[in-house]
Formats: sequence, structure tokens, C-alpha cells
Amino acid sequence: MTTSWTDRTSLDGSLRDIRKGIEEGRFPARAFNDQHIFDLEQERLFSKAWCFLAHETEIPAPGDYVTRYIGNNNIIVARDEHGQISANLNMCRHRGNLLCKSELGNASHFRCSYHGWIYKNSGELIGVPYMKEGYEGRLKRKDWGLVNVRVDSYAGLVFGCLDPGAPSLEDYLGGFQFYLDFYLKQGTAGSEVHGPPDHWVADTDWKICAENFAGDGYHTPVAHQWGFNLGYFPSSGSTHSQGWAASIPGLGHGIGLGHSPNFPAFGGFPDELVEEMREAFTPEQVEVFSKVRTAVGTVFPNLSFLMQPFSLTPGEPGVRFVTMRLYHPVGPGRMEMYSWCLVPKGASHEYKEAAYQAYTLAFGQAGTFEQDDFENWTKVTRSARSTMVKDLDFPYIMGMESDRDASFRGPGHVVTPYVNDTNFRNLWSRWADYLAGEA
Ligand code: FES
Ligand code: FE
Repeated sequence: MTTSWTDRTSLDGSLRDIRKGIEEGRFPARAFNDQHIFDLEQERLFSKAWCFLAHETEIPAPGDYVTRYIGNNNIIVARDEHGQISANLNMCRHRGNLLCKSELGNASHFRCSYHGWIYKNSGELIGVPYMKEGYEGRLKRKDWGLVNVRVDSYAGLVFGCLDPGAPSLEDYLGGFQFYLDFYLKQGTAGSEVHGPPDHWVADTDWKICAENFAGDGYHTPVAHQWGFNLGYFPSSGSTHSQGWAASIPGLGHGIGLGHSPNFPAFGGFPDELVEEMREAFTPEQVEVFSKVRTAVGTVFPNLSFLMQPFSLTPGEPGVRFVTMRLYHPVGPGRMEMYSWCLVPKGASHEYKEAAYQAYTLAFGQAGTFEQDDFENWTKVTRSARSTMVKDLDFPYIMGMESDRDASFRGPGHVVTPYVNDTNFRNLWSRWADYLAGEA
């Protein structure tokens, strides 16, 4: 089947074929590096979906803020003097200057560096130079506040949505919260970020990362083989031929749950946290999570998590670390990566440091596993730009006939084993729905 397109109009026409191809287990290679796809994603996906902005623990005190992106829009996410979190377009309403030029900090107000308009951190315009003499009463401050962005949060994750008509965040997540809790409710106090995110630019399409973290257990024993050989992955022998792939049909979210029968239940967590987690989780979550050694999932479109034990002493469970990552597209085949370490808020200082060390060694900016992945992802992205690629598809036919694992107690469509394309078909199907304007 040809899904070739040469311009925006022919891409619109090809979307029907792309969607049919996904149902049949194919996806166009060129989608991973294409200007028309990038433009359509900005217009129809990132301007419509709920997109991750920040973790609440990044801005714990009044005045704390970070600047992030939804699509190509720079957003200030700030906690006001009443403790409320708001999000506003980082653009002065006078002539459009970038208002806040720092990526994080603390400020009760922002003053524009061009003509000096002043806004509260919640977005209201409160100061205009030469208000009386210049505007002679014609400018109403209440009409020229920052452009507000709809926000909502789940278990510390703050999301923003540019579409006032979009469904609630709760409906958007659609049951995936069950799996997110494994990362976000580590103990009764929940989870927190351990320092600001690692942040770097890569010649990689954001979708390659989103797919990989939606549960690509297939690449792990190959791309990261050295980790097995050196014993950094404790008790990992049968993880990838067992385990589960869980997805929320129609919503794009997916997670791979690796299982090693010989790995201890909740191994790698301190004993006191295990007790707390058993309290914080539902009985169904305890049953599922106690069997899981590795959990790697994507919240559609571009937020991912990985939890994994990492051991510097071969044969021992090591320590569980969690990384949360955001893939911000900046052009076709190019993205900015934000990568955080999440730790249990109630854990000891020693445990948090050990988890951070494991995260840094494996998935920090210079992390060894991170480099394994980006080496492959940049090459995939480069291939996707070549002239011979325009009519080629990739196969997504693993698990086409898989039935739901009826014994599994988590929500969504759950299949076994973990090595499976089911989550990816669901991811691309949702992506195509947005690009076709039918999400
Ligand atoms: Fe900000 Fe003029 S552009 S005050
Ligand atoms: Fe990997």
C-alpha cells in the first residue's frame, strides 16, 4: 500500500490509508521525520491533547515557577501566593515579547523587558508604564492579562490543554491512572522529583521515544545486552518472554510490565516503603505490582515513565529507580528531552541518593542505557528522511490475534507476553485519530 504524500493536502488524503495500515499492522517509516507530519502534529495533536507540564514538587512554594512547552507554545507554570498552580502563555500581551526568560525560579511578578508591563505570576496585568498619559483611560488592564491555559493534575502531575472543548483529564487518562500509581504513589506520601530535569536536544523524532517507552521489551536484551552481561539488571532472565503489555484502547496510553518469577515481590524498595505501598495501593494494584520487576509506560502523547531495579552488585536486587521523561518536538526529527528522577517522598535520604545514582548511571543525560537508546533512535530518524523511505512501512504485527489475559487484574487491554506490538498499534491509532481531526 502506498501512503506517500508530497504536501499538506495529499497528507490529509493519505491519513485514511495510514489509519487502515495501522489496523492491519503497518506504520509509515517516513512519519518519523517529515515536515508535513510535524506541522499537522502541532496543529491537530499538541493543540488538542492534555500535555504534561510539570510535577507539583518542582514548584512547592508560592512564587515557584518553571517554563515548559505545549507544542510550540512556551508556558509559564507558577504557584501563586494562595498555593494555586496556573499556566499562562509566556508572551507579553503588549507586543509579544517573551516575558519570563528563565526556565525555573521564584517570582511573585514578571516584568516585561521591552516596555515594562508587569503581570502577577497568576497572569493578571497589574502594571503599565505611562498608563494615564499614554492610554488616556482607554486600556483596561483586566482585558490584557496573560493568555491562560487550562490545567488539571493527577497525583502530582500537572497537565495543560489548549482545547477548551477537550474532555476532562480524568477521562483523557481513562483508567491509565491504575498503572501511573506505581510510579506516583510510592508510599503514603507519594513521589517527588529529585532535582531539576536533565535537559538536552537530540536529532530524534519524539514518537520513536514515545513508542519505545510504551513497552518495547523487544529491544532490551539486544540494545542493552551489556547490562545483562555485567549483572546490572538483577534477576532479569525471563522478564521479556513473560510479563504483560497493557493499553487503554482508543486512548493511546500503554505500559509494558516485565516479570521475573525469581525476583522478590517489591524487590529493590526499602522494607518500610513496601508496607506503605501495600496500604497506598488497591488490592488489585498490589497483586499486579508485586509481580512486576520493570514497568515502562507512555501517557499519550509524549510523557513516559520507567521503573527498574539497577544493581551495582551482581546477584542482588539493587535499588529501584524511576525516571519520568518528556519528549518535546522542536522540528521534524528533532526534539528536546526532559528527564527527571522521581523518588518516594517518604524514603530515607540514603535511599533517595541511591535511587538517584542508579537513575543517573542508567538514564541521566550521560546514562549508559540512555546512550544505547539514542544511538539507535538517531539512526532510525536519519533513515526516515531518506528518499527511498517514502513508500515504506514498518511491521507492527506482533500479537495481532492476542486475546485479553483474563486472569490479569489491571484495566485496559492486557496481553502476554510483554514482547508485543499491541501497545504500539494503540498508540499510532490514537495519533492518527488526532492528525485526522477525529480524536
Ligand atoms: Fe512587553 Fe511591550 S512587549 S511591554
Ligand atoms: Fe532502551
